[in-house]
Amino acid sequence: MEIGFIENIDKKSKPNQNQLGFGQHFTDYMFEMDYIDGEGWVNPTIKPYAPISLDPSAMVFHYGQSVFEGLKAYRTKDDRVLLFRPEKNIERLNKSNARMCIPEIDKELILKAISELVKVDKDWIPNQKGTSLYIRPFVFATDYYVGVRQSHNYKFLIILSPVGAYYSEGFNPVKIFIEQQYVRAVKGGVGEAKTAGNYAASIKAQSEAKEKGFSQVLWLDGAEHKYIEEVGAMNIFIMIGEEILTPELTGSILDGVTRRSTIELLRASGYQVTERKITIDEIIEAQFNGRLKEVFGTGTAAVISPVGEMWFEGQKILINGGEVGNVSQKLYDQLTGIQTGDVEDEFGWTIDI
Ligand code: COI
Repeated sequence: MEIGFIENIDKKSKPNQNQLGFGQHFTDYMFEMDYIDGEGWVNPTIKPYAPISLDPSAMVFHYGQSVFEGLKAYRTKDDRVLLFRPEKNIERLNKSNARMCIPEIDKELILKAISELVKVDKDWIPNQKGTSLYIRPFVFATDYYVGVRQSHNYKFLIILSPVGAYYSEGFNPVKIFIEQQYVRAVKGGVGEAKTAGNYAASIKAQSEAKEKGFSQVLWLDGAEHKYIEEVGAMNIFIMIGEEILTPELTGSILDGVTRRSTIELLRASGYQVTERKITIDEIIEAQFNGRLKEVFGTGTAAVISPVGEMWFEGQKILINGGEVGNVSQKLYDQLTGIQTGDVEDEFGWTIDI
């Protein structure tokens, strides 16, 4: 399908690359496409970034039938533009769509929309260390109707945001609160889908933790509050002795692209990586025995984020003296090196657009 184009004659000024923060600035263009009942996905268009207008009864406002994705574009030293494993995000978008009863979107069309949009906004891709262009595709229900059912009409939008580090700490180790009162997801629920409600449900715990000085919460499983699952905006890895553990995907954990890439990078470097259920008790015991070596989070937004402290039942679990560990540092350098084209991409993960 051809993508329409409406030129923006009113370009914005670009933010200072040293003060980007995360998700605060948006580019000149966006992509928009509609799903119309009986017709399917129609009118894919790249157009000037602008507010959209919806009737107050639009179903997304009431029942949250929506999904989103997050991936990044990077500008190389020789001015090429790279996307990192976009097919994985596209696959996951359609998996989330299926779980939320949203019609599937053609994979090639999504990739074409992302690539063409990034290309028209190429000048917005920052190139300083630790920066990138965050790509946010999202889909939501647009039927004008009050009553719970699957919508018959949807919108698919893609917006772009030049970003720096997700956490104000940058690459410095973050402090994490292990959440015991609230849960994020339950077996049979929507934890695995990248749907807005999962993030809405996390905000109360997240803001209470923030008030206590933590960056994020680590969620425990919804049934027994015994197994670690994921952190608000990232998956989690724990190094105990020489083994690196990460929670297995049980349906309530997000199948992170950076998580998958981290497992593959670590294994290629000879580390033993195990995906399995991990109890909070074994982490505490490992710390007690001096075997807890490193903890780090992985995510598109967060990249690799070392964890310096985790707090459980009022007790501090100090990790690697609160310093960035060797494995986290090496992973960060390797991953961002591949993403920005500075390190050879022997995995074939990046695509040149
Ligand atoms: C991402 O890492 O891309 C995410 O979607 C996490 C989000 C909370 C920023």
